[in-house]
Amino acid sequence: MTAPFKPKQALDFDGALLQELQGDVSDTIAQQVLEELPPLTATSVVHDNGCGPGAVTMAMMRNNPPADNLTDNPSWPFKVETMDACNLTFPDNTFDYSFTNFVFAGLSDDGGAASHILRTLKPVGTGVITGAEMPWQIALKNAHYKTRGTEEPMAHFLSKSCYQKEEIERATRAAGWKDVKYVQKEAYLILGTDLG
Ligand SMILES: C[S@@+](CC[C@H](N)C(=O)[O-])C[C@H]1O[C@@H](n2cnc3c(N)ncnc32)[C@H](O)[C@@H]1O
Repeated sequence: MTAPFKPKQALDFDGALLQELQGDVSDTIAQQVLEELPPLTATSVVHDNGCGPGAVTMAMMRNNPPADNLTDNPSWPFKVETMDACNLTFPDNTFDYSFTNFVFAGLSDDGGAASHILRTLKPVGTGVITGAEMPWQIALKNAHYKTRGTEEPMAHFLSKSCYQKEEIERATRAAGWKDVKYVQKEAYLILGTDLG
């Protein structure tokens, strides 16, 4: 089998590159979102849905560390489970807060995921979904059209990368979310050499 074409300028897509491309954007947005909400209490039950390396969890631990001394007892009061966000297996009415930070763009069933968030939240609970508008997306899409033409399907990560207010609105409306509020936050990443 011939290897798929890879332009010689293309970088290897590994963990280090991903880290560089992502920087601390997730963490910054997670921190800003938490600042919008009432502080967690000692009895709050929180879901970091699609947690990845745990940006939301780490922001919570910075803002609201649990009362017991973590230096003496370094185990964090969290449990990690592998689960499809489109088909959560938690019981109904489990969580006070459910955060889904930069996950929806990659889901096969965003409406289903929004329904599961609502189902697993307590009736007075709060769900947070974040999406991103990234200014370089349009340049990547134009590069796709120029190099591959308009008929060739776009790489999945690119065609699905624009998950913004309109998409969140559609998924949450279909799932029956009430009192939906939209806030816009900004986070920046400097890539390459800073010539400034
Ligand atoms: C861009 S990362 C965001 C990670 C983390 N929430 C953050 O704020 O940094 C997207 C995450 O969604 C997870 N993910 C993708 N599809 C998923 C699915 N169907 N169910 C649960 N998690 C999923 C990936 O494993 C990845 O960790």
